[in-house]
Amino acid sequence: MATMADVARSAGVSVATVSHVLNDTRPVLPHTRQAVLDAIEELGYTPNTLARSLVTSRTRSIGLAVSAISNPYFTEILQGVEAAALEHGYSLLIADPHDDPGHERKVAQLLHERRVDGMIVAPSADPRELVAYLGRHRVPAVFLDRLVDTPDGDHAPRFDQVCAESAEPTTRLVTHLAGLGHGRIGLVAGLPGLSTTRERITGYRHGLAAAGLPYDERLLVHGDSEAAGGERATATLLSLAVPPTALVTANNAMTIGALRALRDRGLSVPDDLALCCFDDFAWADLFSPRLTAVAQPSRELGARAVRLLLDRLAAPERPVRSVRLPCVFVHRTSCGCPERSDRCEEAEHVEQAPAKAQEGNLP
Ligand code: HPA
Repeated sequence: MATMADVARSAGVSVATVSHVLNDTRPVLPHTRQAVLDAIEELGYTPNTLARSLVTSRTRSIGLAVSAISNPYFTEILQGVEAAALEHGYSLLIADPHDDPGHERKVAQLLHERRVDGMIVAPSADPRELVAYLGRHRVPAVFLDRLVDTPDGDHAPRFDQVCAESAEPTTRLVTHLAGLGHGRIGLVAGLPGLSTTRERITGYRHGLAAAGLPYDERLLVHGDSEAAGGERATATLLSLAVPPTALVTANNAMTIGALRALRDRGLSVPDDLALCCFDDFAWADLFSPRLTAVAQPSRELGARAVRLLLDRLAAPERPVRSVRLPCVFVHRTSCGCPERSDRCEEAEHVEQAPAKAQEGNLP
């Protein structure tokens, strides 16, 4: 197998120059650079990243720990992470913590033992062990999607975070339904303990208040952020003595569950029940009726997480940053608006182009 010394000899340069070309560590004259690249090609040289890691103590790899990888929201996040990592010469190690606090800590340890340079983690509803582990081992990490309150104090670990707006877009769904005349709007909320669940509940309550509607706790039922929980929660709402006339589902998986519960009871959307959901997905406009939804900037969330992590690796002492990205309201017909109406200038109306991300300390 060809070595760096072979490449240097063949190109007529020093081993150090070959190293600078490979690692972009110093500018190299174009014709010298080309000679090195030609020699690499001719000899079939492949750099030994393990050997390089021993010298640099860096593996140019990022650990990504997200649960529910099969959920299109997280799959798109993964695509964003992968593309941004590749662009910066990093590879990925992926693990699924299954939203289980104990397993999540083990996954963090596994990735750390593989010496990833840093981690991007969508934390579970109880991330205390995870936070303690990352803090104790001083692992550079970015929290994604779910926010974590870390304890105050000089030595408390603090982490960069990135997530999408959750409250305001949920308010938007509720006020839209209220504007169509609905007075009993139910919420299929997510897994308790997640910041996204809390914020979507806050947004729901703000929406009711803004529309002058009372908050009735019977109309808020937790699912588990999965389809089965969404189906159960919807069944509970439908069995109320006075069931809701409209429903907001707090994520894509629970929307599927809600649609199953409605189908099983022979109920149709929007005639029997209007539906607005958090999360747009590739086939949301294939449902009949087409789903009115909030679209999260999932790929961008992944890309931003990578940029936050790389900035942290470049400057470990820099102040901690929190980034929140805006969502987009995609107006279709499951809310009860007709295909074309005075309300909808176009049948599919995308509101609010993604604005500038807010950065700073999140509430
Ligand atoms: N968080 C935010 N949005 C989501 C999730 C989640 O866990 N799952 C599906 N959409």
